[in-house]
Amino acid sequence: MQQLSGSLALSSSGAYMVPNVEAHWAGVESPRVRIDRESDFRQVLAALSGHVVVDTRRGLVVQGDSLELLRLIPTNSISLIVTDPPYHSTKKANITGDRGFEVDEHYLEWMERYAQEWHRVLRRNGSLYLFCSTEMSARLEIEVGKHLRPLSHITWTKPNGPGFDGWKGKMQKEALRRWYPHSERILFFEQASLDHERRSSLGALLREARDQAGVSAHELTGAIGAYGKVNHGGAVSNWETGRNIPSREQWAKIVEVLEATGRVRDLPAYEDAVRPFFLSKHVDFMDVWEFPSVRVYRGKHPAEKPISLLSHIVETSSYAGDLVLDCFSGSGASLGAAVGVNRRAVGIELDPHWATRSAERLVRADDAIAVTTVRQLKARRDQKAAQGAEPLF
Ligand SMILES: C[S@@+](CC[C@H](N)C(=O)[O-])C[C@H]1O[C@@H](n2cnc3c(N)ncnc32)[C@H](O)[C@@H]1O
Repeated sequence: MQQLSGSLALSSSGAYMVPNVEAHWAGVESPRVRIDRESDFRQVLAALSGHVVVDTRRGLVVQGDSLELLRLIPTNSISLIVTDPPYHSTKKANITGDRGFEVDEHYLEWMERYAQEWHRVLRRNGSLYLFCSTEMSARLEIEVGKHLRPLSHITWTKPNGPGFDGWKGKMQKEALRRWYPHSERILFFEQASLDHERRSSLGALLREARDQAGVSAHELTGAIGAYGKVNHGGAVSNWETGRNIPSREQWAKIVEVLEATGRVRDLPAYEDAVRPFFLSKHVDFMDVWEFPSVRVYRGKHPAEKPISLLSHIVETSSYAGDLVLDCFSGSGASLGAAVGVNRRAVGIELDPHWATRSAERLVRADDAIAVTTVRQLKARRDQKAAQGAEPLF
């Protein structure tokens, strides 16, 4: 069972309540933080301004082809990508793009073009979670792994009771020619330093700074007091190979020791260097996840992902205030989850109907007043349609 450390609550108005947001975000700031997340958000908004369906205080939905729009997003501006493209192998007629590719190779080439852009837009300590089918997961991991560093291959299984999945109950088991796909996959990557042997971004940063400072791994480990019980001097090499990450206190000591040499200056703050990954005894830490899928309701997206699962990802792999991107936002569930746990969110969706639904979800999730409300946009769209103009979205 998942026990999430932060929880979503609905206010009487139906908006997600975000308790003490400003206080929470204030904790993110430190004198060393050079990359201002609010200005990142503003820059992304400016870059995508011609395609905006809605923008709110904490989020943005744009409508269009996400590969094209992704190319407009500034480099190093996104902290976390949580995205759920058409699976291609499922061939669902009611999901735009699910039947778009004749052969697997074309789908994989398309995904690799995304991976190139994800590598570009992700910050040094950013992460990617990519939903996919069991059939495509292995090959996708290889394609995307050319640009990002694969860390986990998560199996999402659903403890669904009767009524969730009618087909499974009624199907002819004897007709199966392979195992019934009861699970989906979520591939987890971190930003990669492509010219670094182990591809760990933090590892490359640390190694470069240490070389510049002229401090050996052994000396640094000693200065930090991070000797392992068995493997003396292991902590720094573990960080440099990406096997492990330093704690906030350890990072502060690293900065102090390296900058004291006078050869290294302005090492980034913890939140700009170290990839967030917050697990505790209260949350599930294994790579097999059990979350019920979204129960059918009127207007449900055919591939809608559960908020509980998405919040688990966002809370584990981002800092409060970080910018989360979904290139295939569908119902906007990821945006609701991100904003609901004090992050900022950008959603891109091709299908105009689902772009509107994403926008509505974002507005509901963001208890601030939307700069442009969905209602205003719909009124403008209807007015344009009455004038015989091209639909606005
Ligand atoms: C698997 S669904 C995502 C569902 C979403 N995770 C949710 O919880 O509702 C994929 C979505 O990608 C959209 N899509 C397909 N091709 C796209 C493209 N080139 N750019 C942006 N969105 C696209 C589809 O319309 C669909 O809504």
